[in-house]
Amino acid sequence: MPNIIFKQNDQEILVNEKSNKLTILEIAQNNGIDIEGACEGSLACSTCHIIVDKEWYNKLEEPSWDEEDMLDLTTGLTVTSRLGCQIVLSEALDGLIVSIPSNNNDIRLNKNKY
Ligand code: FES
Repeated sequence: MPNIIFKQNDQEILVNEKSNKLTILEIAQNNGIDIEGACEGSLACSTCHIIVDKEWYNKLEEPSWDEEDMLDLTTGLTVTSRLGCQIVLSEALDGLIVSIPSNNNDIRLNKNKY
């Protein structure tokens, strides 16, 4: 039962997840954390953008090319940015820390703003 810490709006939310088969996006949504996930994990948006803590980033599997392409569409991209729908929690990730950016936008979905 791995723990994950979500950081959002200066708050930290500790979640003890009982399933090892859920993505970070699903866990966040199941626990009332404000993250959109507009395409429900089909790699067609970037509204599940998360920022992984630097200590944890290299412990994750590398992002696919498709994930990197989608990340290019988000605002506030960082060197440890990932898509929450592409990371499945496991015991190896017990203690994972991720931040939910406050400007979690997909530029394609907000094209009228730019
Ligand atoms: S929910 Fe759309 S790419 Fe993750």
